[in-house]
Amino acid sequence: MVWKDAYSVGNEVLDSQHKALIELVNELIEDADLADVLAGLRRYGDEHFRTEETLLEAAGYPDIEEHRTYHLAFRTWLAGVIEAHQSGGDDAVARRDIHHYLCVWLANHLLVHDKTFEPWLE
Ligand SMILES: [Fe+2]
Repeated sequence: MVWKDAYSVGNEVLDSQHKALIELVNELIEDADLADVLAGLRRYGDEHFRTEETLLEAAGYPDIEEHRTYHLAFRTWLAGVIEAHQSGGDDAVARRDIHHYLCVWLANHLLVHDKTFEPWLE
């Protein structure tokens, strides 16, 4: 997955966190250890969602509760993947499926959901 200017939400901190998330996702197809990448995604995802939600709260973004549910859905999905990986091990198909899901989720989240708060952070 490659960063595009269209993904920008007009906030430097959030943009740089989104770029870091994309890099983590790309590690999945670069032979990095799957458990390490999943743990990194959980750690970094949690940190990023906290930053984003704190900024949105401070900006008075009215749809914050709805936005939290998108983040929660991601965390729930990731927790399930981590659990499945811990009990089933690594395989190339799982890795590709996880990579595909993350690319679709991130692109949709950045282009649709995160776009809606851009004017509130100006
Ligand atoms: Fe978000």
